[in-house]
Amino acid sequence: MTDEVLVVAGAVLDGGRLLLAQRDRPAELAGLWELPGGKVEPGESPAQALVRELCEELDVSVSVGDSLAGVVRPKPGLTLVAMRATIVSGTVRAVEHRALRWVDADGLSELIQTGSMVPNDLAWARELMGELQVR
Ligand code: C5P
Repeated sequence: MTDEVLVVAGAVLDGGRLLLAQRDRPAELAGLWELPGGKVEPGESPAQALVRELCEELDVSVSVGDSLAGVVRPKPGLTLVAMRATIVSGTVRAVEHRALRWVDADGLSELIQTGSMVPNDLAWARELMGELQVR
């Protein structure tokens, strides 16, 4: 029995744009933008969890690539990692989020600067900014 929670988020990139999802809950995060994802369930690998979560949240099938460098530990017992993901079938729709949007470097920069990103996701957002900018 462990109460360690591992959350995996997806960096879904397509044609120089990054997919962001706007949270609807909890109240303190509602309206902020994040990399979609969720908790890794017992018996799942992070990649398996990401495939399941993005199917549930975005209604698409993805293939999972490598991990981003940032590992976030916002509080004891909670670890967040992010992995790259590519849509292999379907068209994204906001099943559990308030809205979805695809951003380029300028769009992501604006969300960071206006405090519109979920704070835990800032390390990944900055890492991904670098990639979007060099395209
Ligand atoms: O989305 P869900 O509520 O299942 O996420 C579980 C936990 O991970 C929450 O504390 C949420 O705030 C956090 N999370 C995050 N950034 C993400 C996805 C989840 O900080 N991109």
